[in-house]
Amino acid sequence: MIEIQGVRKSYATEYGPVEAVRGLDLQVRKGEFCVLLGPSGCGKTTTLRCVAGLERPDSGRIVIGDRVVNSSASGVFVPVEKRDIGMVFQSYAVWPHMSVFRNVAFPLTDGWRRVPRAEVVKRVSRALERVHLEGLENRPSTTLSGGQQQRVALARAIVTEPGVLLMDEPLSNLDARLREEMRGEIRRLTQNLGMTTLYVTHDQSEALEMGDMICVMNQGEILQTGTAEEIYQKPASRFVAEFVGKMNFIKGRVAAGGVVESPLGGIRCPVPPGLREGQEVILAIRPEHLELRKDGDGFGGEGNAVQGELTAYWYQGDTAFWEVRAGETNLVAKVSADLRAGIGARVKLGLPAERLRVFADSPG
Ligand SMILES: Nc1ncnc2c1ncn2[C@@H]1O[C@H](COP(=O)(O)OP(=O)(O)OP(=O)(O)O)[C@@H](O)[C@H]1O
Ligand SMILES: [Mg+2]
Repeated sequence: MIEIQGVRKSYATEYGPVEAVRGLDLQVRKGEFCVLLGPSGCGKTTTLRCVAGLERPDSGRIVIGDRVVNSSASGVFVPVEKRDIGMVFQSYAVWPHMSVFRNVAFPLTDGWRRVPRAEVVKRVSRALERVHLEGLENRPSTTLSGGQQQRVALARAIVTEPGVLLMDEPLSNLDARLREEMRGEIRRLTQNLGMTTLYVTHDQSEALEMGDMICVMNQGEILQTGTAEEIYQKPASRFVAEFVGKMNFIKGRVAAGGVVESPLGGIRCPVPPGLREGQEVILAIRPEHLELRKDGDGFGGEGNAVQGELTAYWYQGDTAFWEVRAGETNLVAKVSADLRAGIGARVKLGLPAERLRVFADSPG
């Protein structure tokens, strides 16, 4: 279990203070895999370093397991080496002058969690097995591939069987295929060990695939917390809608009766009760929710339909995307690859009302 309450952290710089984390609240339940997702500079690493004890928050409280490791109010600060955590960084931080064995054994031979020699050997080989590096104990670390070094770092993080695993963009230095493979492996590993995990990434597809819970961050704050489905299907703000997955946006203005006036005409959509008539809004709809028909073909259901022209096409093997120009608006629709049409073709585009989301048109 990890609990973060009201944590703030700013750094003094020559341009004045930078507020990296601005009052963060977060709870990761026991055995849960929680992902901090957000753009560069939003405070992910700072948050993780506060949990690890590598940074001391300006204020707030952090609990790991049943131990308060930070409380600014009562002056508690447990140093990094005394926290029940394992850590994996983006730069593998594997020591080049040591063998695989010595790297993985390090927390058991040099830290406060020292164990007898026979136990070290047993635990190191168990950790290496878990990351599929069995038998490589004596290899010098410099002779390993990047992917293998990252596995060594992972083995070193779990060798003490800590209650909490902290990972900061551990896959971003690996090639695309290995990255995909390692996502699944890390999930299985943490699941099998029942480890509570806080995982940092700026890669939304990684977050959606790996997280039991996802916290979307921006500018030092958590904007939305939820499961992958909740974040993807029901983004609470324009920022989250734009950051997670592909999204089309259309500017508009609230009219009467659940309609938004837009450059595409009146669009029926679920206008949230908080939005007044006349207010500027943004309509959002995912490419896979747009319905594309060749002119003349009808739509199955009732809905908003506009005329458009196909202007570009991207083929991606299992899927394809068409760009559709409707008046002055460009929209991207995801289609099955068997829609036979060419650039310049006239099409009808359906925007199912229940798939549209409406956000106030204000920053953030
Ligand atoms: N040691 C430091 N001194 C001064 N400013 C810092 C320091 N560390 C981080 N910052 C600033 O704090 C903010 C948050 O940084 P942080 O590293 O937490 O972001 P991040 O979300 O991890 O970004 P990235 O995805 O690029 O790793 C940034 O504006 C950064 O410049
Ligand atoms: Mg970072």
